[in-house]
Amino acid sequence: MSTSSLRQLIASARLLPVVIIDDPGRGVALARALQRGGLTAIEVTLRSDAAFTAAEAIIAACPELLVGIGTVTRAGQIARAVDIGARFAVSPGFAPALVEVAREHALPYLPGVCTPSEILQAFNLGLDTLKFFPAARAGGVAALTELAAVFPDVAFCPTGGIDESNLAEYLALANVCAAGGSWLAPAAQIRAGAWDEIEACSRRGAAIALASPSARTGE
Ligand code: 3PG
Repeated sequence: MSTSSLRQLIASARLLPVVIIDDPGRGVALARALQRGGLTAIEVTLRSDAAFTAAEAIIAACPELLVGIGTVTRAGQIARAVDIGARFAVSPGFAPALVEVAREHALPYLPGVCTPSEILQAFNLGLDTLKFFPAARAGGVAALTELAAVFPDVAFCPTGGIDESNLAEYLALANVCAAGGSWLAPAAQIRAGAWDEIEACSRRGAAIALASPSARTGE
């Protein structure tokens, strides 16, 4: 796995909706609503039993959408993500064993970090693009600004506490290549089939992303 290819993938998307799908039959409608709103990626989290089934259906129906599996905490989930054709995987934290398994499967992998020590460990394993989670609680924009000074070669995808009110501040940072979160498609709206609301929120998010400075791609 090339870490810069992971950065390019998520930097080209810029926004990563983090979704929980309880009903596998709703995944494709959700994905299409996000796409209509101008988004190009989705992270289907393993926080529901339906996650893999829903992700597989989305991959089949929306081949141009970048579909990843999130909330990965065990090695077997990476193998299954590869089996269904997911393009990347995301974890809330950092475990060297999972980095290793993702490499074995050549699956672009975005582990989570929120301390300088975790960043240092990940960087020394060859990772230069990391999820910063939980972003707001871990210091938000101020923390990311300080981390840029000591980790100039690391780019982050912050998630956790991001929404329309602060998205632009995160995307303005040179060390933020993308930003993610559940505000783009809240679980309650997915359950309710509120596709118009999700599309409208995605469109507003995409407009903010478009107006932000372009992401560093590591090239
Ligand atoms: C994640 O997994 O990235 C977070 O749960 C997203 O956090 P949010 O719900 O505050 O956007």
